[in-house]
Amino acid sequence: MKILVVGGGGREHAIIKSLKKSSKVEKIYATPGNGGIALDAECYPIKATELDKIVEFAKEKQIDYCVVAPDDPLVLGLVDRLEEIGVPCFGPKKCAAILEGSKVFSKNLMKKYGIPTGDSVTFDNAESAIEYLKTTSYPTVIKADGLALGKGVIIAKNFVEAENAVKEIMLDKVFGASGNNILVEEFLTGPEVSVLSFTDGKVVIPMVSSMDHKRALDNDEGLNTGGMGTIAPNPYYTEEVAKECMEKIFLPTIDAMNKEGRTFKGCLYFGLMLTPKGPKVIEYNCRFGDPETQVVLPLLESDLLDIMIATTNGTLNEELVKFSNGSATCVVMASSGYPQKYESGFEIKIGDLEENENVYVAGAKLDGGVLKTSGGRVLGAVATADSLEEAIKNAYKVVEKISFDNAYFRKDIGKKALLATKK
Ligand code: AMP
Ligand code: GLY
Repeated sequence: MKILVVGGGGREHAIIKSLKKSSKVEKIYATPGNGGIALDAECYPIKATELDKIVEFAKEKQIDYCVVAPDDPLVLGLVDRLEEIGVPCFGPKKCAAILEGSKVFSKNLMKKYGIPTGDSVTFDNAESAIEYLKTTSYPTVIKADGLALGKGVIIAKNFVEAENAVKEIMLDKVFGASGNNILVEEFLTGPEVSVLSFTDGKVVIPMVSSMDHKRALDNDEGLNTGGMGTIAPNPYYTEEVAKECMEKIFLPTIDAMNKEGRTFKGCLYFGLMLTPKGPKVIEYNCRFGDPETQVVLPLLESDLLDIMIATTNGTLNEELVKFSNGSATCVVMASSGYPQKYESGFEIKIGDLEENENVYVAGAKLDGGVLKTSGGRVLGAVATADSLEEAIKNAYKVVEKISFDNAYFRKDIGKKALLATKK
């Protein structure tokens, strides 16, 4: 089969490397892909949001199946567009991708169907939001309704910070129309867990759980980033918690979307917080997480393409999805300065990798055949092992095999998780 993967980050590289293991895959294209992906797939410089061009490309190359990985093309309706021309896709249609595309939609859905989440109030104008913020307790959480490149959530410690956030989002429109509405949400506490799942709208099959490390610096300090590393499985996500999440969150979400006439098919990502009052939904994503995918897919023992096609066809079942009992760690190597200003254009050297090691490239381009840095998060150094402790050690061994000028990475990926396993 000829496969098209839309997107160009480390997540897409992990998806492509996993798909390549399938005997049914004849050729993989990526739009736009990146310099590292170019070593595994044929890349074409079409942005993930250029829907018309992607549709044309899919026709021209006679694509048999398309994996739409990033949030924005899903929310814009790329799956609907491709299915109209007869190209089956992995990913939800526009009417279901709204689960990530609008936080107001998903909050209302959770309230209507009794799915556990933080209390919140919605506002469509800055004045009433600011009046409300004078009366609420702190810290409080302010969320832009729409997509905001992962930056639309502000945790305000006091009224001044909250007021500034509302003004930036609703008046200065730093996230454009995504800030026309906001949520002011109760501040929750507890360990966070990412659970990616496959669903065909009938069954929901959780993948191995994971833990992201969002802050730029060690000990979870510094600015929020797109993710500096991940581990899987997440030790806080015990069998008991998993059972509770299935009963109270996963199945009710699938049912709720069906009842709303918005059947969700694809990868549904549950961002959870294990609060003292039980697991609650922090966010839904309508896609694979990045860099969660980089630790989840190396643990998948089954054929990813078979699972994806079953998801599209509505024939998903547990037999199709098997994960190993091992652990995985991803250490993101970034350009020093990320998530703020950084320099690019440095040559990346990668040593020989063992079978349990992987490098998933995110921000790099090929320049005359030489791989050079071109983004903030450059790549993920990934390794698997029987235990989390070994997986962490192995991932840092992969880091040692990689060199580029101005490389920065966190030294403590998995440390918190490891402590939790020893409690
Ligand atoms: P998001 O951009 O939705 O992934 O949110 C970014 C981060 O904000 C989450 O990973 C949480 O750490 C934090 N967060 C979001 N909502 C809440 C909440 N209600 N209480 C505490 N922290 C939150
Ligand atoms: N790692 C969080 C996300 O993909 O949104």
